[in-house]
Order: sequence, then structure tokens, then C-alpha cells
Amino acid sequence: MKILITGGAGFIGSAVVPALQKEGYDVYVLDNLSFGSREFIKITDDHFFHADIRDSSIVESIVSTLHPNIFIHLAAIHFIPYCNQHPFEAADINVRGTMNVLSACKKINCLHKVLFASTAAVYPIIDAAICEDHDLHPLDIYGLSKLAGEHLFMKYYLETRIDTIICRFFNAFGPNETNPHLIPEIEKQLREGKRTIQLGNLTPKRDFIHTYDMAAAFIKLLKLENSGYDTFNLGRGIEYSVVDIVEAFERQLNEKINIEIEPARVRKVEREHLLADVTKLKRKTGWEPEWSIDEGIKDLIKSWNQ
Ligand SMILES: NC(=O)c1ccc[n+]([C@@H]2O[C@H](COP(=O)([O-])OP(=O)(O)OC[C@H]3O[C@@H](n4cnc5c(N)ncnc54)[C@H](O)[C@@H]3O)[C@@H](O)[C@H]2O)c1
Repeated sequence: MKILITGGAGFIGSAVVPALQKEGYDVYVLDNLSFGSREFIKITDDHFFHADIRDSSIVESIVSTLHPNIFIHLAAIHFIPYCNQHPFEAADINVRGTMNVLSACKKINCLHKVLFASTAAVYPIIDAAICEDHDLHPLDIYGLSKLAGEHLFMKYYLETRIDTIICRFFNAFGPNETNPHLIPEIEKQLREGKRTIQLGNLTPKRDFIHTYDMAAAFIKLLKLENSGYDTFNLGRGIEYSVVDIVEAFERQLNEKINIEIEPARVRKVEREHLLADVTKLKRKTGWEPEWSIDEGIKDLIKSWNQ
């Protein structure tokens, strides 16, 4: 089974690619390395395409030459403040890039399944755990671009009837983070020796899922037979505040960490809760998360001295 994975050299790709290789899939990566790195994954030159999904002719030539059986679309830009500052670039990569890859996929007849990395950012602000069939209402250009991606994948499914899985990722954490999200920001300040760290909003709670658990869910989703068009939340099903995360670092370092609020970091529009209902993923695939927040943070700290 040949798998082509766009954005496979990125943060989540760095967990998904080795998991797929371990399962025996023949994995090919297409990535422009704008955020990712070849060092995150073990991939030979003949399995790596240094290419940009905005270039329709190169994407088409790669897909039609390779003839993959499975296509996974992770390539995107997704750091929300960056997307807000660069909305046209976000739309160009996340929407036009997605149109390009789907147009290339439509021209081949060897695909069994396609998977798309969507996001919890397609949901509106809500204080309870969110199910996949909840109304969708993105708050920003990033969420909007991913919702457009979901619609494009739905259209692809209706035209081809090839199994299409939409994965709505919640907050990933683990090694090789490429964007300045909360956990790498805390790590950066702690590694600089600070034990009073500067952060923004402290109360928002997020559902942090380890990238290794995400990769395990991906493998399970790939194995679903005749799944048609389906959508799954990929979260841990537990939410943690910023303070909870800092306390997990305190426990693992066995040191007191103080927090100072830095006004420049405070987001004016912020969701207080973002929690996945993962009942459907568990029921349909048998997946169970294995990494707790403490184990994940312990693993990150262990890597500081390597
Ligand atoms: N990290 C999270 O918490 C999270 C949450 C929700 C959804 N997602 C989605 O998961 C996917 C992977 O995210 P990630 O955290 O690994 O981010 P990432 O930035 O580390 O990975 C994206 C990869 O895509 C590549 N890429 C970007 N633009 C490209 C282009 N024009 N052409 C080819 N390659 C390009 C980057 O080099 C990178 O390797 C994205 O689609 C993202 O929107 C991530």
C-alpha cells in the first residue's frame, strides 16, 4: 500500500509517518519544508518530494507518477495569529492548495481512501464537549479555510465515492512542535532557566492530545472498511487550562514555576473551552488514548538534554 502524505515533515507528520512505516505502509512525503524538517522523519530521497501544494502542475505530476493507494492531506498553515495576519496566504495554501491536491487525486484511479486534517477551529464557541454533528461556525480565517477544505473533500467524495475521512484535530502536543503554541512556549522559557514565565490568557481550557495517540488513531481510521464520507474528532476527551499545563511541568520538574501575565500575549477574542467528544472515534475504531499530559510532558523534558 503506497501512501502519499502532504505536510508529512511537520509536527504531526513526524509522529504519523513513522507510525505508518512501522505498520508496513510504503510512505511518500510531499512537503515544501516551510515549517517541517526532513530531520523529523526517516525518509529516503526517492520517497520525498520537495514541492509546494500551490503548484498545481508539480502536484499533478507527483500524484500521477506515484499512483498512491491512500492520500493524507496534512499540509497547511495553521498558527492562528499568523493566519489572521496573513489571510490571503492562509487561503492560498489551505484552500487553493487543497483544490490542487484533490484535482490531482481525481485524475487517478488507484486511491482507496483519503484523509484530511481539519480542526476543532471549525466549531463555534461552546462550553461543553463537542460532537462531530454540532453546528459549524469558525471564528477566524484558519477555521474558515479548513471548513472550506472539508467541503472540498465532501465534493471529492460525492464525485468519486472514494472513502473520505475528515479528522478534526484538537490541540496536539508532543515532540517536534513547529509553531509557537502554549507547550513549546513554556518549554522555551523553562529551558532558558526561567522559573517565572510570561504567558497570556491563563483560564482557557484546551483538549491536548499527544501526537503519538493521533498517529495511532490515524492507523485505526485507515483500516476502517467502506467508511464512505465520515468525520471524526481527534482529541483526548479531557481539557486542561494553561495553569493545569504549568502545574504538570512543576510536577515533572519538581520545581515551583510562577506565572506572570504579559499584556502583549493576551488574546482579546479567546474561547474559554475547547473539548472533544471522542465517543464516535472510540466506538467505530476501538482507539483509546495512551498518553497522559504528565507522561507527554515528562517525555518532552527528557528530550531537553539529548
Ligand atoms: N498542531 C495542532 O494542534 C493542529 C490542530 C488542528 C489541526 N491541525 C492540522 O494538522 C495539520 C498538520 O499540522 P502540524 O501541527 O503538523 O503543522 P506543521 O506546520 O508542523 O505541518 C504542516 C506541514 O505542511 C508543510 N507545508 C506548509 N505549507 C505547505 C505548502 N504550501 N506546500 C507543501 N507543504 C506545505 C509544512 O512545511 C509542514 O511540514 C495541518 O493541516 C493543521 O492545520 C493541527
